[in-house]
Amino acid sequence: MSIDLPESAVPPPTGSDESSSAPSRRAFIATSAAVGGAVVAGGTFLAGSEEATAAGPSPSSRVSLTVNGTRRTVTVDNRTSLLDLLREHFDLTGSKKGCNAGACGACTVLVDGQRVNSCLTLAVRLEGAEVTTIEGLAEGDQLHPLQQAFIDEDAFQCGYCTPGQIVSGVGCIQEGHTGSPEEIREWMSGNICRCGCYVKIVRAVEQTAGRK
Ligand code: FES
Ligand code: FES
Repeated sequence: MSIDLPESAVPPPTGSDESSSAPSRRAFIATSAAVGGAVVAGGTFLAGSEEATAAGPSPSSRVSLTVNGTRRTVTVDNRTSLLDLLREHFDLTGSKKGCNAGACGACTVLVDGQRVNSCLTLAVRLEGAEVTTIEGLAEGDQLHPLQQAFIDEDAFQCGYCTPGQIVSGVGCIQEGHTGSPEEIREWMSGNICRCGCYVKIVRAVEQTAGRK
């Protein structure tokens, strides 16, 4: 694309006197900068418009689900994960955000009795679901047997992975995957413990499953 410059913007021949009445090099540079700036500014403006159109209002949906025995109805952005719904909307911060990508298990909760990574689960897909988080395992002051077993076995250090480990352990026991330490290890392998408490975690699950 060619840009027609005003005559006054044509540069003087090389070596000409900039103080003469001919258009100066400084004038040429200034004009070029102005024209270029307009093009760039135009580009920015267009990009901005497209962006604004593409972004638009975020689609949201209403969803009703039961969390730890309590019915909840909320309108959320369709992209909200179950983990963010629990932590940001319901203030249930027991489930942890480790990787936010399905690789660590720190966010494990039960949905209709099944273990899921809540960071990978869209909240709006859970209409009518029953969700159990770490906060929903104890009955009043009475800890869930697996919570007690984690304490008895000293199965944690920093504790960051612990809510996910315990919820996953509950699922593992309910599924009956506790025939041996190896089986527990296999079926708990989606839950990473960076402190390396695996031996004690397996022992706690074993103890709770009544196989110690
Ligand atoms: S935070 Fe969900 S798997 Fe790591
Ligand atoms: S206790 Fe620290 S990551 Fe598991």
